[in-house]
Amino acid sequence: MPFLYQVLLNPGICPDKILIFVHLISLTIGKMKSWKEKYGSWGLVAGAAEGLGKAFSEALANRGMHMILIDNQEEKLYATADTIENKYGIRTKKLLLDLSVIGSLQAIFESIEDLDCRLIVYNAAYGPVKPFIKHSVSELDYYIDLNSRMPLHLTFHFIKNLPEGSSAGIILLSSLAGLYGTNLVAPYGATKAFNFNLAEALYHEYRSKGIDILACCAGATDTPNYRNTFPKYGIIKPSVTSPRIVAESTLKKLGKKGLHIPGIGNRIIFSLLSHIFTRKSVSYLMNKTMQRMYGYRFEPEND
Ligand SMILES: NC(=O)c1ccc[n+]([C@@H]2O[C@H](COP(=O)([O-])OP(=O)(O)OC[C@H]3O[C@@H](n4cnc5c(N)ncnc54)[C@H](OP(=O)(O)O)[C@@H]3O)[C@@H](O)[C@H]2O)c1
Repeated sequence: MPFLYQVLLNPGICPDKILIFVHLISLTIGKMKSWKEKYGSWGLVAGAAEGLGKAFSEALANRGMHMILIDNQEEKLYATADTIENKYGIRTKKLLLDLSVIGSLQAIFESIEDLDCRLIVYNAAYGPVKPFIKHSVSELDYYIDLNSRMPLHLTFHFIKNLPEGSSAGIILLSSLAGLYGTNLVAPYGATKAFNFNLAEALYHEYRSKGIDILACCAGATDTPNYRNTFPKYGIIKPSVTSPRIVAESTLKKLGKKGLHIPGIGNRIIFSLLSHIFTRKSVSYLMNKTMQRMYGYRFEPEND
């Protein structure tokens, strides 16, 4: 020990100092689990064929994970699987399923029972932009089934089936529209609030047990589904983030917190607004922006 002090206190860089430094770094790295040690060699993305789901699948494949990809769009699901298999040299399992049907859970768990799959991303959602009263009754149930019931049950059974003492990760896609009730996406926003509340609560319940749970509260993201909403921008334009940035920044935050807002622009705006203004004013601003972006569609002559 006196030798150690002597070397460290000696000014300047000497070979002994470098050796000690390298040794300390390797000790630290040795204690840190690699991504695959922490989350298994297989990852699962529900709603993986395009957009954010595809970006999460790519980001996980890039970390060397084999992927279980679930979607209801057959052609795009197979195309995404081919792309990531070729690009990252990993294996995929493709499940063509309707995630709004709770019976699909059985196929999901059968597909992972023999695999070391300890990471799931629940991405699929239903979220059209329209006035509340323009929905059909069956659509109201569809929101609950796809956006809330399935992630709730999937999370529950996934945690329950984990081998004793194993570490794992769960990401539930939420939205800024889940943080503040937003007109024209009311039922969608309500289901997204359900997801962020669930993930945030479970983050605290499971953090000491090695199970990382995170809600990704994305803002406008450049996916085919977002583009198909045909937003009309005025002076205020929400920052539109690329799916790759949303996926990468979310994976980096897994295990560090329970709620993540991807995109520096979104984080700055939300942090500024929520620190400077009251909740009522922020909610007013969000709702006004939404009206400006989509209200034109529902003016009387368009009905
Ligand atoms: N894009 C944004 O601006 C944005 C903003 C905030 C939060 N988010 C959240 O991010 C997630 C993804 O967003 P996104 O809408 O842009 O979608 P996306 O990632 O582009 O695609 C989602 C995938 O899930 C599939 N899917 C939908 N319903 C399904 C079902 N019943 N069974 C199986 N697969 C199904 C979709 O197919 P179909 O095309 O057939 O539906 C699509 O391939 C959602 O949870 C959303 O709430 C998105």
